[in-house]
Amino acid sequence: MENLKRLFDNNRKIVEEVTSADPDFFKRRAGKQEPHFLFIGCADSRVPIETLTGVSPGEMFVHRNIANQVVSADLNLLSVLQYAIEVLDVKHVIVCGHYQCGGVKAAMGTESYGLVDYWLAGVRDTVRRHASELEASPGEDERFKRVVDLNVLRQVYNLARTPVVQNAWKRGRRPLLHGLVYDIHDGFLKSIALEVDGPDKVRELFEARRRSIGD
Ligand code: CO
Repeated sequence: MENLKRLFDNNRKIVEEVTSADPDFFKRRAGKQEPHFLFIGCADSRVPIETLTGVSPGEMFVHRNIANQVVSADLNLLSVLQYAIEVLDVKHVIVCGHYQCGGVKAAMGTESYGLVDYWLAGVRDTVRRHASELEASPGEDERFKRVVDLNVLRQVYNLARTPVVQNAWKRGRRPLLHGLVYDIHDGFLKSIALEVDGPDKVRELFEARRRSIGD
């Protein structure tokens, strides 16, 4: 109970601090949510996205899973995506990976971790697709980082191909897709792909990446 007590104590403290500066803060947010962002990130405990980006409650709709995957048969992700785009009308959908991602690392190795092995099939596929680029990496750390980057790019691509996003684009609604990586070493976010408004744009990004490393 000791650990849980800390959570309740902190919660009380935070509510007191917030309401003493702004007495109606929580009352206002109990009404409608109008987030501009849908964030799809890794379940890793070291990536507290709201804290890192300074968004307030109500500003960001969040979905997290191991290695920030966009899997076309994942009913959970698809429900979140559809609700965010069609009901909440979010303007930006962000896929965010992070360095030192345990899921990505697991997919790069041969060890078995149980159910998560199935979940990470997409990352293993990315490693296979980019084998020559990865073999050309100067070292293991660099290779690990590249897989994290490529995994984000691939998930933006997957996102662009979902019927929900395709239909939204067809109707002239423009959720812009973005791919980011959180550098766990220094706390900064870096961009992998910004303002993607069609699958062609993601293909271009893959091509540009291939050209930039001379593959
Ligand atoms: Co992770």
